[in-house]
Amino acid sequence: MTSATSLFSPVEADLHILADNLKQLVGNDHPILSLAAEHLFGAGGKRIRPAIVLLVSRATMHDDITPRHRRLAEITEMIHTASLVHDDVVDESETRRGVDTVHSLFGNRVAVLAGDFLFAQASWYLANLDNLDVVKLLSQVIMDLATGEILQAVNSFDVDISMDTYLQKTYYKTATLFANSSKAAGILSEVSPETAENLYEYGRNLGLAFQIVDDIFDFTSSADTLGKPASSDLKDGHLTAPVIYALEEKPELKTLIEEEFEQAGDLEKALALVEDSKGIQRSRDLAAYHAKLAVEHMSQLPSSPTRQTLIDMADYVLSRLN
Ligand code: IPE
Ligand code: IPE
Ligand code: MG
Ligand code: MG
Repeated sequence: MTSATSLFSPVEADLHILADNLKQLVGNDHPILSLAAEHLFGAGGKRIRPAIVLLVSRATMHDDITPRHRRLAEITEMIHTASLVHDDVVDESETRRGVDTVHSLFGNRVAVLAGDFLFAQASWYLANLDNLDVVKLLSQVIMDLATGEILQAVNSFDVDISMDTYLQKTYYKTATLFANSSKAAGILSEVSPETAENLYEYGRNLGLAFQIVDDIFDFTSSADTLGKPASSDLKDGHLTAPVIYALEEKPELKTLIEEEFEQAGDLEKALALVEDSKGIQRSRDLAAYHAKLAVEHMSQLPSSPTRQTLIDMADYVLSRLN
């Protein structure tokens, strides 16, 4: 598997600066909130979104990247982290990034406030970039993330969910941030509208592939490997690509889900049915399809070593499954 560290090497120094800045940006006006933020940023995470922002910045600038590009990468990671704090409250998840979640340590009230605080702070830094187009793109992301969580909640345990609805939900939950932050990095570099659109489509397709892979992991990986709970999507009624495909082959699965796994052993039966179906393989194919589209859009940019890294990122997202 391509390691994230070797892939991110063109922006490794940038990511070190980012890690230092993130902790400082949260400030220390509110001890409990900054403790919560410190806890999360300290635990790390893969930092794939800021790495993409920094790589796009480098791929679209002739000279060095600007402080605004760096700040955009930081804002992107803050927005992502805020969404995870809220997502863990909604999903009642106890671990994230290999450590206890904010809500399990400090309670739901603090977690909701800490998430809001991070969103608000990201918005403040965003406004300070003084670029209205970029402000609009990233504010849209914050709205989309909330829409994504709502769509997920209203569709839970709905066995009639279509692949289109799943992909739309996935766009709102995940792909919107990849798409709009890539485009925003291009806008800060003053790229042409056509390039901005290619950057958006690159991010959108890479983000879809990334979330489909995450949804596969929920079935195939252990909590230890993931640093967060496994087998929890189906249990919570979040029907993702592997289940939506499996439902086409396994009518018994439908009943188990509709009854919300009421009998002991029902969840295990359902997981076994998904495993026994073509659901996982078809989901891999779907992720590969979107990764390929991402590459096609990135290939429209002028050739450069950082463009190549962005192309390799699509392989990295898929290779995580190997
Ligand atoms: C988790 O994102 C949420 C999804 C969109 C799957 P990441 O897998 O990027 O989480 P971190 O930032 O590395 O913890
Ligand atoms: C991603 O979805 C959550 C957000 C983008 C807010 P998941 O619910 O799949 O994320 P994990 O699996 O908890 O990391
Ligand atoms: Mg979750
Ligand atoms: Mg998940």
